[in-house]
Amino acid sequence: MNQLSPSTVPAHVAIIMDGNGRWANARGLPRAMGHRKGVEAVREAVKTAAECGVSYLTLFAFSSENWNRPESEVSDLMGLLKTFIRRDLAVLHKQNVRIRVIGDRANLASDILPLLLEAEETTRGNSGITLVIAFNYGSRDEIARTVRKLAEEVAAGRLDPSQLTSERISASLDTADIPDPDLVIRTSGEERLSNFLLWQAAYAELMFVPEYWPDFTRDTFRTALARYAARERRFGGLQPAATLAVGS
Ligand code: IPE
Ligand code: IPE
Ligand code: MG
Repeated sequence: MNQLSPSTVPAHVAIIMDGNGRWANARGLPRAMGHRKGVEAVREAVKTAAECGVSYLTLFAFSSENWNRPESEVSDLMGLLKTFIRRDLAVLHKQNVRIRVIGDRANLASDILPLLLEAEETTRGNSGITLVIAFNYGSRDEIARTVRKLAEEVAAGRLDPSQLTSERISASLDTADIPDPDLVIRTSGEERLSNFLLWQAAYAELMFVPEYWPDFTRDTFRTALARYAARERRFGGLQPAATLAVGS
């Protein structure tokens, strides 16, 4: 399975990186160690996606609901994000990676927001894979923020309600200019979306893999891409064979 045909490589893969805590628990380690190991898996996933010809890789790093975790864990996760950007930004830039951040930026700590902006700004002109970091991201929160923004436009008379098409809504979300994901992978065996890209993943292929995120290696990723290549997407139409039968 070393050869992936370019035509069947998903342009956009989005991953719910789940299972860091259980990975650590299974080894008798503190949860923080699982998160730390998870960062290594992030580095490998970006490389694998780029080498396989994926154009956009979205990683769910911290959800709008993850604030419900104990303060010490939230602080570990914030610390890891800061270290990741400080340590890896130069490397990612060198790898021609373009970084985008989605999620609510209001009320982020004063030592986090500037780092996110720096990552976007530094890599803006890069032409390689786009790494979309979903940070303080929740789909319902994103949609609510977008609806508020559009409602203000309508109230100000700059937008007519008839212009509120699904394209217009897509173009107003955090993911404006980013194509919808073709494939959403969730690790750790959980089979739910946990408020991730609910609008954008309307026609995505969903894949739930048993590995905990720190165990998500290059091979696991490539296997998932090969499984995707064997899927048949219909978008509400008919499969090609059925279309032929109808036409004949
Ligand atoms: C995913 O691993 C990382 C984040 C949600 C930030 P978890 O921390 O959710 O690990 P489990 O699900 O408890 O094993
Ligand atoms: C989803 O994982 C969020 C991220 C991976 C960042 P969670 O572990 O927070 O999801 P639930 O709570 O199990 O649904
Ligand atoms: Mg989890």
